[in-house]
Amino acid sequence: MSTLHLIDHPLIQHKLTLMRRKEASTNSFRRMLGELSTLMAYELTRDFPLQDIEIETPMEKMVGKVIDGKKLALVSILRAGNGFLDGMLNVVPGARIGHIGLYRDPETLKPVEYYFKMPDNMGERDVIVVDPMLATGNSAVAAVQQLKDKCAPKSIKFMCLLAAPEGVKTMQAAHPDVDIYTAAVDRELNDHGYILPGLGDAGDRIFGTK
Ligand code: URA
Repeated sequence: MSTLHLIDHPLIQHKLTLMRRKEASTNSFRRMLGELSTLMAYELTRDFPLQDIEIETPMEKMVGKVIDGKKLALVSILRAGNGFLDGMLNVVPGARIGHIGLYRDPETLKPVEYYFKMPDNMGERDVIVVDPMLATGNSAVAAVQQLKDKCAPKSIKFMCLLAAPEGVKTMQAAHPDVDIYTAAVDRELNDHGYILPGLGDAGDRIFGTK
């Protein structure tokens, strides 16, 4: 069974609460999401393998440790996943970026794929799939399945801002090898697949659409 990691750092919880407020403007929502993504990426990369490189300080030569950023790929589930990217790239600037376009059929709530574009050498990469909302879990399950089928990455983690218990259960059942990282697990889903209390439609709030 995959592990559910609740990232409950006080700074993350504080910003998340401010973002949830319905009166938060697009500008402040986006800014806080950026800050949160940087903090979350810091937590997610905690166990990343390091490699030795030789450097020279002003005093002498030494062997230092660096993360192999070229082997990391962030995969955004369009469109809301894009809201995570800039903030994450603050801490892993060398990461490659992939995109998966899935929309949720409003009737069935099932995901339909319309776009898939990945960096090269995916088989050698550790991948973090990002989508702010793990609601029904259907999109996340489908995105990870597409990734496994088409690219077989070395490892996959899933990062979101908010999760519903239903989404966590669905994701863990479908992909027991994929750990989930979230800032909160909310109460439930409503009949339209929205998280309660949630924060509304993440894409609309990031991009200022309705
Ligand atoms: N997607 C969103 O943007 N919000 C939800 O609450 C659920 C899915």
